[in-house]
Amino acid sequence: MTTVYDLRSDTVTRPTPDMKRAMVEAPLGDDVLGDDPTVKRFEAMIAELAGKEKGLFFPSGTQANETAVQVLTSPGDEVLIERRAHIFNYEAAGPAALSGVQLNPVDTADGALRVSDLVSRVRPLDPHFAPTRLVCLENTHNGHGGRIYPIAEMEAVSRWARERGLSVHLDGARLFNAAVASGVPIDRWAKCADTVSMCLSKGLGAPVGTCLVGSAETIARARRVRKRLGGGMRQAGILAAAGIYALEHNVERLADDHILAKEIAAGLSVLDEIDVDVGHVETNMILVRTAARGLTARALVEAAEEMGVRTFDVSPTEIRLVTHMDVPADAIREVPRRFREALRSVLVSDGRGKAGSS
Ligand SMILES: Cc1ncc(COP(=O)(O)O)c(C=O)c1O
Repeated sequence: MTTVYDLRSDTVTRPTPDMKRAMVEAPLGDDVLGDDPTVKRFEAMIAELAGKEKGLFFPSGTQANETAVQVLTSPGDEVLIERRAHIFNYEAAGPAALSGVQLNPVDTADGALRVSDLVSRVRPLDPHFAPTRLVCLENTHNGHGGRIYPIAEMEAVSRWARERGLSVHLDGARLFNAAVASGVPIDRWAKCADTVSMCLSKGLGAPVGTCLVGSAETIARARRVRKRLGGGMRQAGILAAAGIYALEHNVERLADDHILAKEIAAGLSVLDEIDVDVGHVETNMILVRTAARGLTARALVEAAEEMGVRTFDVSPTEIRLVTHMDVPADAIREVPRRFREALRSVLVSDGRGKAGSS
């Protein structure tokens, strides 16, 4: 059986034997009753790392984000958010359905909202308008191919929001990637926001789990919302133990995923029929654009799958590839080679002849 390269997401990693051992050996209690020692240890570790008073363990990034939105808003409020943000696109309209808020999406070139993008979006105080209440940021930005939010821009947005009495939530599902790639520590990013969600189940390799951090008062309210959403878990230490293991062993190695992504991107960039901007590969994601020769992303995803490379089409003309700890090193050579084959098969079946490279 030839190797299959699964680059659909960094969520596909499986726990290693050492991580599983840490899970099996973790001391447990009933976390809904507040006495799971491993959950408490994990929450304290991540809160300290982020420079926040408290942490709260969630089963998913989605639930942590939706809880943050609910805690920081009231029904009828408006939330400023980047147009390709996860909360806006991939959380099943959670802010509307669960919190009764309206999202006001803002376009950017790289996923990072700037003060200049936001000033004209704040609604005047007038009974016609929804009160602007919250700004949601995302780092790294999934929809923009893993781009890192420039810290100076985030700090400026944070200052601006606070001056106007707006709250800030940071969807930091991949904040560890941003920290490792930029050298800017987690607590400096976290300082920009009232709440930050950070996933363990992505590049950090844990099977489940996200931590939301914030002030003691905010996290106390988040605990109630989490319960309401069905996210109170009992012997959750078995999962939090994987999170502790991930924090202790898998953070620095994210740099390897970033190097691998750059190298795969460089290999793909020589293929004439697709566009890959290697300079935009800042962390563990690669965006392949297919529009130049009129190819559809879907056709190329299907052809690549036939060649044993699994990817996602994230728009009709864009394919996303994500590196992670379970991608073998020979992907540097194999992924571009198989993509060339996939392109050839799409173009031949389109009657457009052979795929070349430069
Ligand atoms: C930026 C971002 N936020 C939130 C999430 C949601 O995480 P989960 O799949 O754990 O709900 C994801 C998932 O990929 C994500 O990429």
